[in-house]
Amino acid sequence: MKYKVPLIVGNWKMHPQSLTAAKKLYREIKKELGRPQHVRIGIAPPSIYLAELSKLTNGKTIALAAQNVHWEKLGASTGEISLPMLQSIDVTQVILGHSERRAMGETDAVINKKVTACLKAGMTTILCVGEQKRDRNGSYFTFVENQVRKAVAGIPRTKLDNLTIAYEPIWAIGTGDTATAQDAQEMRLFIQKVLTNIYERNIARKVCILYGGSVNSKNAEELYVDGAVDGFLVGGASLRAAEFGSIVKSVASHANQ
Ligand code: PGA
Repeated sequence: MKYKVPLIVGNWKMHPQSLTAAKKLYREIKKELGRPQHVRIGIAPPSIYLAELSKLTNGKTIALAAQNVHWEKLGASTGEISLPMLQSIDVTQVILGHSERRAMGETDAVINKKVTACLKAGMTTILCVGEQKRDRNGSYFTFVENQVRKAVAGIPRTKLDNLTIAYEPIWAIGTGDTATAQDAQEMRLFIQKVLTNIYERNIARKVCILYGGSVNSKNAEELYVDGAVDGFLVGGASLRAAEFGSIVKSVASHANQ
């Protein structure tokens, strides 16, 4: 049974090319969604658009998410943005450790600092994990376990309330090669087992587990229902309002009401 309010976050990555286009897309998505019931929605535009989009949202229908953040509040860190800066414009969610950032050199140690800071600040913290490829002997489980363990290292159980983990196998991101519902469910259970081992079952059960990787309007329902995940991190499909709206609707129609 689904007992959590599902979360669907659109990760716009480095799109679109102008503020005008970002506002247009945001308005289209807002119109498409109307007043969605029984779901939580986040939109993660490039950080330069956050302040302007913040003026277009009342924060109730669509939460704003950052694609990254620094762990310090302020300082000599050229090119970075901080949590108080995000909070000053009502950003409430942060995506961390996306595989595209890891590929640019972001380490588990840095991700751990960011996860720690975001949880402390009360942000909805969406930690991305996922293997590059799958092998027959299942070493991808160990890989994902290490990513989870390193990301939450030193974080006390009392601070986990806002943690969400997005399982995003790299082979499924932007490829159209989606994980099966069975793959998603298996990994959801596995991540929850890892969290149970680190903390305890009651704490682990509270953590939302999302799936990301080529989610679209055709596969969302099956992934949500049979994959038993708590929602999605959506890349490419979140750049098309009707497509994103349709993903949200298929989740909402099965959410606990
Ligand atoms: P995709 O991206 O939906 O385009 O595969 C997902 C992500 O990178 O979060």
